Parts: sequence; structure tokens; C-alpha cells
Amino acid sequence: MFTTTSRPQADPPRSLPSPSSPHAPMPPPPAPSSPVPPPGGPAHAQHRGQPPSPPARCQPRPCPRPADMNYSRFITTVSAARKGSPIRLLTELMQRSPPSLISLAGGAPNPNVFPFKKATVAIGHGNAVEIGEDLMKRALQYSASAGIPELLSWLKNFQRNLHNPPTANYSPERGQMEVCVTTGSQEGLCKVFEMLINPGDNILLDAPTYAGTLAALRPLGCNIINVPSDQHGIIPNALKEILSAWSPEDIKSHSHSLPKFLYTIPNGCNPTGNSLTAERKKEIYQLARKYDFLIIEDDPYYFLQFEKPWAPTFLSMDLDGRVIRTDSFSKILSSGLRIGFLTGPKPLIDRVILHIQVSTMHTSTFTQIMISQLLQQWGEKGFLEHIDRVVEFYKTQRDAMLVAADKWLKGLAEWYPPAAGMFLWIKIKGVSDTEQLIMEKALQKEVLLVPGRAFNINSSEPSSYVRASFSLSSPAQMDLVSERIFIFFLLSFQEQFLTLTMFPYF
Ligand SMILES: Cc1ncc(COP(=O)(O)O)c(C=O)c1O
Repeated sequence: MFTTTSRPQADPPRSLPSPSSPHAPMPPPPAPSSPVPPPGGPAHAQHRGQPPSPPARCQPRPCPRPADMNYSRFITTVSAARKGSPIRLLTELMQRSPPSLISLAGGAPNPNVFPFKKATVAIGHGNAVEIGEDLMKRALQYSASAGIPELLSWLKNFQRNLHNPPTANYSPERGQMEVCVTTGSQEGLCKVFEMLINPGDNILLDAPTYAGTLAALRPLGCNIINVPSDQHGIIPNALKEILSAWSPEDIKSHSHSLPKFLYTIPNGCNPTGNSLTAERKKEIYQLARKYDFLIIEDDPYYFLQFEKPWAPTFLSMDLDGRVIRTDSFSKILSSGLRIGFLTGPKPLIDRVILHIQVSTMHTSTFTQIMISQLLQQWGEKGFLEHIDRVVEFYKTQRDAMLVAADKWLKGLAEWYPPAAGMFLWIKIKGVSDTEQLIMEKALQKEVLLVPGRAFNINSSEPSSYVRASFSLSSPAQMDLVSERIFIFFLLSFQEQFLTLTMFPYF
């Protein structure tokens, strides 16, 4: 069950300075600054493009109390030791100051010497994004590590309207919802893992899962505990069973061996296409409360859900401030621009921002300005209308993939129609491992699919699955690929049959 068996380390020190007040110790968690809102009635469950409804009221039962989160319990010694860079803080201060400020403080280069002067980017379904000379100077300059202010405030409002998280009005120390821009959601994920994992820590996830996550986790030396799942995502009873290994005393004493977090891809999982149901999410959130673990909700396919209303998110249920959510613009605006955003409790997001300060410094200012200009122009309504168009495209692609699979692979293979995302997860019957078949035979037939073992915790473990992506191919190409899979499986079964009949004792 575990990939490694080393023991966890002792808890890091308790005080966590934040990026904006680098040396201030974290005060003990006070009560929420305003009456605690109930678990969010997510606005996205109403209708997109319309103003969100007010938060649901807990009636007649009293609202459950949020837990007193001790965030420092979760943080590695390395992350706890991060302090704000004084130079970065000056840069951020300068950007908030009026133009009349004369500064000799910053080490920023003079943008007048840069060759790029202005840009016009034509937009499908919108006016061109114009980056004039002044804006271009800003776009080419260093900027705040958390993200440029106008994009951050757009994203914060959007998250509030879409997910209505209970944490939106908490005090910062208590776990107030915070957002930061990341260079793709991959950067956010990687930094969150590095913030949380000491060697030997137990963590939970439902494999097969995104290979990029496994690649980020493996070198950190954690014990990865696989939680069984089906087409509706993690099975709560299976999670309960795994967690029953920890006693009520372990929970009370916050034993080091308690799992630190559960990682999951709740919509259109890469590679399985699975989507977690709202009921299961609620059950899983209750288990997270009971066993005091965090939930990392990696949701790049959230905007590619084929049916409305969209599923409520873990963020929308986050009464305690224990959910870190990664969103991505990669599947809907551009993967090459490298932009995503993290949403979660401020004490944790602040740690990630400190890491960004000393690594990438910030996501490309030019990228952020381009995205921000577009989002300001579209507004939330225009953005959600764009999403509708993207979903329409992927839904048609998904349907074409299902038609091709039905036509050629029925009987030979099994799959579930995905409710979101861009992947069909195909189990090839009678094949214990697809690796050789794909890397040799399928390639000879000019077909490329990903062998299932790439998504196993232990990638040398065999898998009878392949991942087929329906994002780029035309319906005719999907039909052709399915036909070729059919032919080479037929040939390989024939070969097996011949081998068995010619050499019956081998
Ligand atoms: C589940 C999952 N998480 C994260 C990522 C990384 O996405 P981004 O391009 O936002 O870094 C991907 C990319 O495919 C993914 O499938």
C-alpha cells in the first residue's frame, strides 16, 4: 500500500510569517471575524452568467462550528523557514504607490530600452486586446509574486461568486479564502506538495492519477496510500476503511502518522475521466474533518463539465479552511501562456507566495495583463459564455470518441462515458499490460495512446488500460484509430492463439 516506509519528522515551529508581514509570528487562531457562514450553497449550481444567489442559511439545525485549524502542523520545516524578500516587498510597494513617487529603491530595469512597444491581440468573440505603450511597459516589468492586482481581484470575486466558500469572510489567521496566480496549475501543485510533505508523511490519493502529480510527489519520499475509486471517483467507504487504521487517540493527539492530505481530481479525472459526485464529496469532507487532513482539489477540468448544473466543489463546502484548490486556464484560454491560480486558506497560500518569491518571482506579467484585459472586457458573464462554447466543442468530441469506440471496440474493451474533461479510459479485455502493445505494435500502426501504467503510483506495475485523448483528433481520425486498435488487438490475439496451439507447454 505504501511506496516508502520512512518515518515522518517532528512538527515544525509554530510561527508562520506571511509574505506581507515577513517577520510577524502567527497569532493563535481567533474566532472567525464575522458570523460563520454556512457551508456554501455554490453559486454555480444556480445558473452561470447570472448573479449568484445569497448564501444558503442553515435552518432549522444550527450550523456546525468550524474546526480550529493548526496550519503549522501541516507545514514542512523548509516552508516554515521561508521569509519575505525585502526587495520583493519594495517592488510590490512601488506598484501600489502613486506615479508621483520618485523611487531609487527598485532594481527594476528601464522598460524604455526594451524592444517591444505595443501589441494588439485579436480575440474570437470579443474586441481585440490592446496593449498600448504604457501598459506594455508594465507588462514587461517585474510584478508582485501573488499576481497583478487587477487580475487577483477579478479572480477573488469570481471564486466567491462561483463557489461561495464559507471561508470568504473569515479573518486571515483563521483561514480566510486567499488566491494567488501561478504559472499553470502545475506550479501551484508542486509548491503545495513541497510546502506540506516531509519524507515519510502519509498522503492519500486515488490512483490511477495524473502522471505530473506522481512525478512531483515521488521525490518527496511520502507514503502514498491509494484510495479505491470507481467511475464516480473516490469511494467514501473505502476511504473510511483506510482511515480506520488510526485510532481516536491518534486523532486527539494529532499523531504524526495521520495522513496530511487527500489529493484528488474531482472532475473528468486525468486519466480515468471519473467525476466525484456531490454526495461523495460531502462524505469525504466529513472524513477530512474527523481525521484532520487537508484536501487538495486539483480541478483543471472543472470548466469542461458536459452537464449543468456543475458539481459543487470541495471549496464550496470548506467550513474549516482545509481545502486548497488549483484552477487552470490551460484547457480554456491557453496552455502555453502558463497561467493558473490557487485558492485556499491564507496562512497556506502565503507560504506558497513566499516560495514563488524565490523561484519564478511571479507568473509572466505580460501573460497576466493579456488575460486580465480579456477577463475585464468579457466580465464573468462573457467568460462563462466562452466556457459554454468550449464545453460544446469537447462534448461533441467526446460523443465522436464514444461512437468510434462503440463501433470498433465493443466486446474487446470496456469504458465509461466521461462526464467532463478530454479523456476516455479504456480497459482492454484479456490484456494484463498494455505497455508493449502500445509502444511497439500500436506505434507500428501509427497510433499513439498512453499505456495505463504511466498513471500508477508504481509505474512499473502492469495495467490493462490505455488513455485516449479526444481533444485534438477529428471524428474521422478517432474512427480510424479505433479501427487500428481493433485490428492490432485481433492480430495479437491471433498470435497468442498460434503460440499456444504450436507450443502448448510454454
Ligand atoms: C489533473 C491535472 N492537473 C494539473 C495539470 C497541469 O495543468 P497546467 O497546464 O495548468 O499546469 C494537468 C495538465 O494536464 C492535469 O491534467
